[in-house]
Amino acid sequence: MCGIIAYIGPNPALPRIVDGLRRMEYRGYDSAGLALAHEGKLWLRKEVGRVADLASQLRDGPESNVGIGHTRWATHGGVTQVNAHPHTDVTETIALVHNGIIDNTNPLRAMLTSQGVSFRSETDTELLAHLVRKHYDGDPVQAVRDALKHVRGTYGLAVLFAAHPDVLVAARNGSPLVVGIGQGETVLASDPQAVVAHTRRVVYLQDRELAVLTAEGVDVQTLDGDTVDSAIETLDSDYALASKEGFDHFMLKEIHEQPRSIKRALRGRIQVNEGNAKLGGLNMTPRDLVAVQRVINLGCGTSYHAGMTAAMAIEALARVPARAEIASEFRYRHPIIPRDALFFAVSQSGETADTLGAVSEVQLKGGAVMGIVNVVGSTAARTCGRGVYVHSGPEIAVASTKAFTSQVAAMLVFTLMLARCRNLSLEQGQAVASALDDIPSKVAQYLREPGPIDQAVQLIRDARYVLFLGRGYSYPVALEGALKLKEIAYVPCEGYPAGEMKHGPIAMLDPGAPVVFISPDDGQKEKAIANMMEVKARGATLICVHTKGDDEIEALADVSIPVPDTADFATPLLTVLPLQLIAYHVGLALGRDIDKPRNLAKSVTVE
Ligand code: G6P
Repeated sequence: MCGIIAYIGPNPALPRIVDGLRRMEYRGYDSAGLALAHEGKLWLRKEVGRVADLASQLRDGPESNVGIGHTRWATHGGVTQVNAHPHTDVTETIALVHNGIIDNTNPLRAMLTSQGVSFRSETDTELLAHLVRKHYDGDPVQAVRDALKHVRGTYGLAVLFAAHPDVLVAARNGSPLVVGIGQGETVLASDPQAVVAHTRRVVYLQDRELAVLTAEGVDVQTLDGDTVDSAIETLDSDYALASKEGFDHFMLKEIHEQPRSIKRALRGRIQVNEGNAKLGGLNMTPRDLVAVQRVINLGCGTSYHAGMTAAMAIEALARVPARAEIASEFRYRHPIIPRDALFFAVSQSGETADTLGAVSEVQLKGGAVMGIVNVVGSTAARTCGRGVYVHSGPEIAVASTKAFTSQVAAMLVFTLMLARCRNLSLEQGQAVASALDDIPSKVAQYLREPGPIDQAVQLIRDARYVLFLGRGYSYPVALEGALKLKEIAYVPCEGYPAGEMKHGPIAMLDPGAPVVFISPDDGQKEKAIANMMEVKARGATLICVHTKGDDEIEALADVSIPVPDTADFATPLLTVLPLQLIAYHVGLALGRDIDKPRNLAKSVTVE
């Protein structure tokens, strides 16, 4: 979603800002813009479309050492050049970029309008520029501070004053910002990925903090003006310069990275001999673990599906009631937070606003919530304080692939811990641990021989409707397969529990309609075969993802995609792989923008 970059230092700001915008492109956006301070004036350009479109308009850019840039994902107001950021005040000497949403937009807009301000855009951001102007009396920092006293909502913002080219002012409330402290230069971004080209030494701003950036460094204060002694941290080495490593797209690279990324999620955590596991970040003793009477996984999109998968494993192996909840629903339905429940906030980015909102709700009601997060230092990781990093490495493609399998793997490690201190014997624990331990090599084995994905692609690419079905552990996989196909290829489809198909989706099945059935050789297979017969009786075409060597399913399937055998609870880590590949190749066949699908954002930092 929206990205902020700002630069101040001895070097030309323009190419550095454009570079920062490019590095944040993966987050999803629909327009981009930047502003530089030069000779007491602002130079501003913005464009609808890609950063490349903006870059082609910058040839006459001035030599300036300070500026701000933004990639916008429309919320308030359509995708237009006028609505793109930066926004300026009436005198066009204050420019501002903003991530987040201002809640009291209407009264503030009305107040400013009554004072003679005429608005040019439909955005909530523009009012911030006018508000800062209203409070400006020669002191840029005080102006931002005073303006923000009137603002309710979420923001990460950077403000540039034409009259003060030696300073940039930033502030954060609910929308991430990180300051990179380089050698005689300072950068600010909403994503560490845009900082890493300059420096690995960073300060993460916290909510209700304001930062004054100069070429020499950063001075962090609270919004009330108190000094903050922020720790300088070192960015994880994961934040390398993102490269496709010879693959055509980040998505394909990330799919093929899964043997390694799952290994990282498991490394040092599984104890095969003891039939147990250890997750240091949870800081839970066996006594703490046996006190857990239920587990609730909160997440959105793919992370919600990972949470569903893990909840099933927790119930099956640890016999602890567990469920997953969609964070955006959970946070607003006045949820019951049982004292003996353990909540997990499952989020690749750790910045998804709905998941963060759900975390606040749990914490407000005294509940215990831990993160299952990929991005180190992200808001979810910090807010939860305790949790598990899944270590999948930066995921650049908007559609999540390797983060899903790493989240599931990490939560299965937790499942083993929880189960071992309750009802699993040493032998049973060893069996679970070694099944997990074998997963990376099985994933590699599948990816070497992915089966007839091209046949599935031919059936799906022009389909009017595709149904993904699965039972038990394969139900969240069916949801995830359908989500991937929607996200990447925009093919109408849905995921459904196979047994529920006869209560509705079966009506959608024309002769020849592709049905993707996820049916590994688990306890659900017999029932799944009955559902396959129902599908076939309607003339639908059956694409089956099944356990290698399963002749019964192979005989039924029109397209048969085998995956290696594994324990029931670990099947999602293998059965999801062909679905990721199908979505990728259908998207490719249809000429879609694979890594940056339309309308989507990598991390949705607004509600
Ligand atoms: C967005 C992305 C999805 C992702 C979801 C949750 O919708 O497009 O791919 O699954 O957010 O993201 P999170 O970072 O919280 O896992």
